[in-house]
Amino acid sequence: MITRGATAILLLVISTAVYADITPSRQRELIHLVQHDCGSCHGLTLQGGLGPPLTPAALVKKSPETLRAVILDGLLGTPMPPWRPFLSETETTWVVDMLKRGKFDAD
Ligand code: HEC
Repeated sequence: MITRGATAILLLVISTAVYADITPSRQRELIHLVQHDCGSCHGLTLQGGLGPPLTPAALVKKSPETLRAVILDGLLGTPMPPWRPFLSETETTWVVDMLKRGKFDAD
């Protein structure tokens, strides 16, 4: 029988393990990709340009699942391209998580 404390620890281990295969150097590459490649359309500070803003406020009502699908497969008939060739599913989840938390704001 698993106690409540053990369950909490288990969940913590699982949630930190989700991104375990994204190394710190790959995270730096992804940050560069978002700021420069995504930024070329969404604005270098992600405040919007050709594409809409990708700030936490702009994305607050959008589900992570929807955002992941848009990033991986693009939006047909719009300039938003699919990123599946460049981003794994785990990396895309990480990018969505960081966008929603405003972690790509220009530093
Ligand atoms: C060539 C230009 C271009 C590039 C590069 C680009 N996007 Fe987009 N993106 C767009 C446009 C235009 C839209 C809006 C499409 C529409 O709905 O008309 C969009 C829409 C989106 C949306 C949906 C936003 C919403 O409010 O529903 C997300 C999320 C998104 N882009 C993320 C990204 C990410 C992350 C990257 C980089 C990995 C990226 N985009 C790169 C042009 C671009």
